[in-house]
Amino acid sequence: MHLLDTRAVVMVAALVVTLLGFTIQVGAAAPGVNTPYRHRLPRPRDARPHYGGSPPQYVVNRARADAVKQAFQISWDGYYQYAFPHDSLRPVNNTFYDDRNGWGASAIDAFSTALVMGDWKVVEEILKYVPDINFDNTTTEVSLFETTIRYLGGLISAYDLMTGPLGNHTYDTKYVNSILHQAKRLADNLKVAFDTPSGVPDNNLRFGPPRKTGSDSNGIATIGTLVLEWTRLSDLTGNPEYGKLAQRAERYLLEPKPKNVGEPFPGLLGTNVNISSGLFLDSGGGWGGSDDSFYEYLIKMFLYDPVRFAEYRDRWTLAADSSMEYLVSHPTSRPDLTYLAMWNNRTLQFVSEHLACFNGGNFILGGLTLNEPRYIEFGLELVDACRNTYISTATGIGPEIFQWQDSRTGLNTSNNPGPPNGQASFYNSSGFWISNSGYVLRPEVIESMYYAYRATGDTKYQEWAWDAFLAVNRTCAVGSGYSSISNVNIPGGGNHSNFQESFWFAEVLKYSYLIHAEDAVWQVQADHTNQFVYNTECHPIRIASGYERSPLA
Ligand SMILES: *[C@@H]1O[C@H](CO)[C@@H](O)[C@H](O)[C@H]1NC(C)=O
Ligand SMILES: *[C@@H]1O[C@H](CO)[C@@H](O)[C@H](O)[C@H]1NC(C)=O
Ligand SMILES: *[C@@H]1O[C@H](CO)[C@@H](O)[C@H](O)[C@H]1NC(C)=O
Ligand SMILES: *[C@@H]1O[C@H](CO)[C@@H](O)[C@H](O)[C@H]1NC(C)=O
Ligand SMILES: *[C@@H]1O[C@H](CO)[C@@H](O)[C@H](O)[C@H]1NC(C)=O
Ligand SMILES: *[C@@H]1O[C@H](CO)[C@@H](O)[C@H](O)[C@H]1NC(C)=O
Ligand SMILES: *[C@@H]1O[C@H](CO)[C@@H](O)[C@H](O)[C@H]1NC(C)=O
Ligand SMILES: *[C@@H]1O[C@H](CO)[C@@H](O)[C@H](O)[C@H]1NC(C)=O
Ligand SMILES: *[C@@H]1O[C@H](CO)[C@@H](O)[C@H](O)[C@H]1NC(C)=O
Repeated sequence: MHLLDTRAVVMVAALVVTLLGFTIQVGAAAPGVNTPYRHRLPRPRDARPHYGGSPPQYVVNRARADAVKQAFQISWDGYYQYAFPHDSLRPVNNTFYDDRNGWGASAIDAFSTALVMGDWKVVEEILKYVPDINFDNTTTEVSLFETTIRYLGGLISAYDLMTGPLGNHTYDTKYVNSILHQAKRLADNLKVAFDTPSGVPDNNLRFGPPRKTGSDSNGIATIGTLVLEWTRLSDLTGNPEYGKLAQRAERYLLEPKPKNVGEPFPGLLGTNVNISSGLFLDSGGGWGGSDDSFYEYLIKMFLYDPVRFAEYRDRWTLAADSSMEYLVSHPTSRPDLTYLAMWNNRTLQFVSEHLACFNGGNFILGGLTLNEPRYIEFGLELVDACRNTYISTATGIGPEIFQWQDSRTGLNTSNNPGPPNGQASFYNSSGFWISNSGYVLRPEVIESMYYAYRATGDTKYQEWAWDAFLAVNRTCAVGSGYSSISNVNIPGGGNHSNFQESFWFAEVLKYSYLIHAEDAVWQVQADHTNQFVYNTECHPIRIASGYERSPLA
């Protein structure tokens, strides 16, 4: 998940909307969901209760997994030849761009993907590079959030995989140890960010030596998407300092103040926090960029360690319940679709974006983790609607930002306008119109399809993910790799931006691969046997206890 402020794009007028008294259709409760789970090692999974009542049967499709692996190889070869060890490939003219401090962002983001694909040559190339990264200096500003999810997450994940389930492969031990050493070195440089009056970090740093830039505020995604990586680093190194810093910052999000500003709906927050005081500065939010992965990590922390992070579960549950109660919105032209509105205090805005489409997968993960089929059923509805943004366009890829007219709010008001000229017919059939037509190699729609498949075993989600992958593979391939495109709704996708995002390696290619690949301990499990939890960059992090425990035990 990556930041992008949508609210600036959308004109909002003050109209208080009340959405009360409707119900969400949920499936029949799975039998046995309340049976406590007993600790059990190792796999294979057996008769544990989970969604659907019997364990999903997964179908391996090696030919498809290999086709995704081939796209990974193409992307890597272009990057390795023309850009490594810089951050990102410019595939159109075979040059590079240092968009993430020049530490080799694509290499570190590709690391855990190469590992789960068993692409040992690439693993070796990245492994040998890790000790050479100079995490003490860089010429450009450093984002605490982006550096945490890509570099820290990528390194920790590789270390967890190579010292865990992939420890049977032969590596040079000194290189493997260097991965953790480098992660620690990076965090030791980043931790100055937390040295503020409140403990809410300054997201923007300079290095050489590391120092804050003096930001006044920080947002809930950038504050609340550190705790998994920093806690894991503490657990791996035995030094509690890292986890404590991130958890202290998170406290301001677990107990938002002042409440009438920071928490317009129970569990659903504003966006910006004053770094000096820890107080919320606004009441606008959503499940999209700037907010997204704060909500995502609440349930993931509980999965990581249900003992230490029970309060995070409670806050996730509150946010999920409020979303189902207040934010559900059906387009006038397609009442069969379910999207989640954004909010400004309690006024809803009927806009969403590709980034927000992780929400289906997050509801599904929450439902699996908490034995709550209603979250899974609701998550599947969201997955369905996000897939609709893909199958409605000329390329088969969904747009960056989209809007719709809500069926239960006064029509044609400034807060609930109809489609713009030229998109009426598209809206009529598709249930949304396009406000930003780009696609920047984002993963969220395929990511949620992956969770849907792992929860249900329904092969239709493999088909959906395959169709999405084929569309992206066809449209975004250019020159020596893959690139963002400018318009998902014209054949060919418009212009190629000449930029291959590092998260293409970490996320799109990994989710596209895993949904067809053999079951493995790093895959999301539907029956409380998870040994890994994915950070927001899709780097699998080993959960603290090494195996999942029941929230009910
Ligand atoms: C190593 O372990 C992984 C994951 O358990 C397994 O898929 C792979 O076959 C094993 N490789 C060897 C060489 O034993
Ligand atoms: C960091 O890099 C900058 C720019 O290249 C340089 O001016 C500075 O001296 C370096 N600092 C350290 C501590 O190496
Ligand atoms: C948000 O709306 C509620 C009423 O719905 C009101 O009590 C509260 O003061 C508002 N908050 C802000 C910051 O305007
Ligand atoms: C942030 O908090 C500090 C300390 O309480 C205060 O002086 C400052 O005015 C606040 N800034 C804003 C924009 O509210
Ligand atoms: C809203 O505007 C559309 C298009 O201009 C029109 O067809 C429709 O009747 C209007 N609906 C209401 C309730 O005003
Ligand atoms: C929308 O679809 C309905 C029937 O599906 C049709 O009657 C109507 O003319 C369509 N409107 C537009 C603007 O295409
Ligand atoms: C994916 O794109 C690459 C590069 O254009 C192409 O070689 C490959 O055949 C495509 N894969 C599939 C399954 O279409
Ligand atoms: C391609 O980019 C150019 C220049 O930025 C722009 O004028 C043009 O509209 C774009 N074409 C498409 C199809 O998006
Ligand atoms: C490659 O393209 C980028 C823009 O996409 C441009 O900034 C850069 O100068 C180009 N480099 C060369 C060597 O052509």
